Amino acid sequence: MKGKLEGKVAVITGGTSGIGLAAARLFHAEGARVVVTGSNPATVEKARAELRDIADVVQSDASDIAQVRALFEKVKQNFGGLDVLFLNAGISKTSPLAALDEALFDEVFRINVKGPWLALGAALPVFRRGGAVVLNTSMTNRKGMPGSSAYSASKAALRSMARTAAAEFAEYGVRVNAVSPGPTDSGIIAKGRTPEAVSAIEKALIAQIPLRRLGRPEEIARAALFLASEDSSFMTGEEIVVDGGMTSL
Ligand SMILES: NC(=O)c1ccc[n+]([C@@H]2O[C@H](COP(=O)([O-])OP(=O)(O)OC[C@H]3O[C@@H](n4cnc5c(N)ncnc54)[C@H](OP(=O)(O)O)[C@@H]3O)[C@@H](O)[C@H]2O)c1
Repeated sequence: MKGKLEGKVAVITGGTSGIGLAAARLFHAEGARVVVTGSNPATVEKARAELRDIADVVQSDASDIAQVRALFEKVKQNFGGLDVLFLNAGISKTSPLAALDEALFDEVFRINVKGPWLALGAALPVFRRGGAVVLNTSMTNRKGMPGSSAYSASKAALRSMARTAAAEFAEYGVRVNAVSPGPTDSGIIAKGRTPEAVSAIEKALIAQIPLRRLGRPEEIARAALFLASEDSSFMTGEEIVVDGGMTSL
């Protein structure tokens, strides 16, 4: 049986771990030629081993315009064009508003908002008609959660950007949608936190999720596949929430 992305060229930013890594495996299994990025040399190296025969792993900082341009020039050179772009790279950092942690705010917006903005602009000339962009937002863009002002606002900005990009890209035959995950067991929560803090955060989150568990990276990747493939051919400017009912129930 033919895969849903047979013959397509897919770029996944932040594909060295978590949701992006799961998407790389799934998109490859569905027939795509996959390129993933990451910014950290150690995780890039690890992903090269994990994704051998599955994807090209490129070190490319999503927030650096020269590196982003070089990435899409390389895709054009190596593959002739682009069909699917999963803008997944992102960081999650929390701090209460009263702490006024300006450095955290700037870092979160640089990677989570400016990064996808750069990629959208640099990728459009490389896109073939019939292409699809999927932005990875977050259910935090519709829920007030203490400490997440910068992160949640960055994901609300991204939700808005999906609409503008969808409006601009329609004439080029490229659809733009977003997948909005709830808390997902990707390892992102553990970054920079002690095991005790992680366990307390996960417990508190699970208590708020009607399905009483975290999401799995593969479950978010499947929603991204839907938006990246012809299965969603009449959708653009939309956002699909995959959060175990956390924001709706
Ligand atoms: N897990 C959740 O609960 C959850 C919920 C809602 C939304 N999300 C969103 O899902 C996306 C993926 O997160 P995840 O949960 O899978 O976490 P993750 O495992 O930490 O993955 C993040 C990915 O982004 C990459 N990345 C970070 N900064 C980058 C940069 N400057 N340039 C290029 N790549 C960069 C990381 O690679 P390097 O380390 O190599 O840079 C990694 O591959 C994020 O946008 C996150 O906000 C996650």
